[in-house]
Amino acid sequence: MTNTTPSIIAIDGPAASGKSTLGLRLAQALNYLFFDTGVMYRAVTWLVLDRSVDVHDEAAVTALAENVPIDVAPSSAEDGRTCDVLVEGKDITWETRSRKVESNVSIVAAYAGVRRALSQQQRRIGQRGRIVMVGRDIGTVVLPEADLKIYLDATAEERAKRRYEEILAHGSSADYHEILAKVKERDRIDSTRDVAPLKAAEDAVVLDSDKLNADQVFEQALALCK
Ligand code: CDP
Repeated sequence: MTNTTPSIIAIDGPAASGKSTLGLRLAQALNYLFFDTGVMYRAVTWLVLDRSVDVHDEAAVTALAENVPIDVAPSSAEDGRTCDVLVEGKDITWETRSRKVESNVSIVAAYAGVRRALSQQQRRIGQRGRIVMVGRDIGTVVLPEADLKIYLDATAEERAKRRYEEILAHGSSADYHEILAKVKERDRIDSTRDVAPLKAAEDAVVLDSDKLNADQVFEQALALCK
């Protein structure tokens, strides 16, 4: 054990477990780059839908992931986003959070070629260090050498409740039971896929956030960085 602050911090966990909230706060506290890898899978999914490509056509979906550059840049607006997502210069940040994208993203993210294309880019960025990288497979596949790995968990019911409240706070309408069903479906696909399934790395610290609020999760994670 050393006393130095970990340089590469990986945070993985299931849908809506609070990874982005935690990751962003940790990155700000440590003056690190925050990188939410989920936005890349969402951007490819948005492209697939925008171009009317069949989401079940693995070769066509993979070709899009390999050939269309996706840019993730620091947030340019104070509208609740954690970063800007750009495809061919167009800001699609909010489009990537749509229901349609959310219902299809796990199908796209299960394709080996899509994962290869995106995780190569993620690894290149992550290896520079001073980074908090958030996703499903960061500690297991993208950056197995990470200095600190956190697996943030919570029950599907608690996660669906948080996502429901987030959508209401944003001024949109939502159905809790529909959100719960979708969260469970995404978890099922993410954790049973052949390539880089969602699971805690053997050396990850598991934080169960069911009975913790965002501040408490942050304090526990920060303590692991000291
Ligand atoms: O914010 P939320 O946890 O709901 O989702 P996200 O982190 O934006 O990820 C959206 C989807 O992308 C996930 O359900 C996974 O299917 C996929 N994903 C992945 O496979 N690997 C990653 N490193 C990040 C996301």
